[in-house]
Amino acid sequence: MKKLNLFNHTLPVTPLGNGGKITIMKKFPYLLLIAAVFACKNKPSADATATFSIQETAIGKIDTSAVTEYTISNPSGMKVSILNYGGTVTKIITKDKAGNDGDVVLGYDSLAGNLQKGNPYFGVLVGRYANRIAKGKFTLDGKTYQLATNNGPNALHGGLKGFDKVIWTVEKLAGDSSLQLTYKSKDGEEGYPGNVTATVVYSLSSANELKIDYKATTDKSTPVNLTNHCYFNLSAGTDSTISGHELFIQADKYTPVDTTLIPTGKIETVKGTPFDFTTPKLIGKDLGSVKGGYDHNWVLNRTSTGLEKISTVYHAASGRFMEVFTTEPGIQFYSGNFLDGTLTNTKGGKKYIQHAALCLETQHFPDSPNEPSFPNTILKPGETYTHTTVYKFSVK
Ligand code: GLA
Repeated sequence: MKKLNLFNHTLPVTPLGNGGKITIMKKFPYLLLIAAVFACKNKPSADATATFSIQETAIGKIDTSAVTEYTISNPSGMKVSILNYGGTVTKIITKDKAGNDGDVVLGYDSLAGNLQKGNPYFGVLVGRYANRIAKGKFTLDGKTYQLATNNGPNALHGGLKGFDKVIWTVEKLAGDSSLQLTYKSKDGEEGYPGNVTATVVYSLSSANELKIDYKATTDKSTPVNLTNHCYFNLSAGTDSTISGHELFIQADKYTPVDTTLIPTGKIETVKGTPFDFTTPKLIGKDLGSVKGGYDHNWVLNRTSTGLEKISTVYHAASGRFMEVFTTEPGIQFYSGNFLDGTLTNTKGGKKYIQHAALCLETQHFPDSPNEPSFPNTILKPGETYTHTTVYKFSVK
């Protein structure tokens, strides 16, 4: 008979077979306890950081700056790729209900795609002020600032060269599941006052959550509104539009807009209108009755200032389900209205037609610097702007 040495006790062990095990357990019941402790110690932890990784790929140059794609992978095989250019999310690979991988965001096969004129902000970080400022003008502390008007009469998404078109400094954080991106925006850049330091941390969790933590500080009062502009299509290339995606938005109200997509200042109820997503609804159901498609800010029903689940998207055929959590007061749901199939260098040469994807841009309300009744977007010296949004992927 073999001998098993357990903490200096030499015990007789019957070789092989269940019978032997039972015999030992009957004879030495305290072994059960030892076995339980051992099993707990060896149980794979829910956050198995050992199997996270970040891979770097050089994808080109802009002037003298190298452009790098960082791919974070988690233990269950989800992958998120991010560029130092614009902090752009270029790929989100998640499984469907059959276990097949698919890329659920629109994007390009080469950097030339991202750099093309008219790239509609695929996956980028948007700042210093996401969304529109009427006539590109606002008054702060008695001074009127004029920004470039790059969207009809209005300023859109931070200007001609917003945070989406600059190189961010990227640092891999410990644990290989997070990337920290930093950009220092100069006083006067794109017409905005103050030197602003923006920091964005992209993290991938073992529960398939892509978390985006935004922070900003300034040395002069300035409007700040940061977001991410991913274009989601949960079919991963199967459906040419998002009409068959089911959307829920936890908002009883929205901000109606004028013909240039500037909020009128009113806050209206969604009840009985195509804007009602308070119970999950196929996007295609009322899309045709909204002139130009959905491109509006919803006023989120919030119960706290913390992270709350405020939206879900479900694509039944693939089973993919995305939940959106945020700390922000609003969400711009944009149904890809301006996509018209003309973008080049797209993934697999795909034609991104109108409504090919949807954006859920968590943010402050558009044109807040000119709407005193909207939640404040002015960041002052000594304060820190913070915003967290999580996109969580699963299947049902
Ligand atoms: C935002 C705007 C849209 C459009 C897209 C980018 O979602 O609200 O009107 O400009 O960005 O094309």
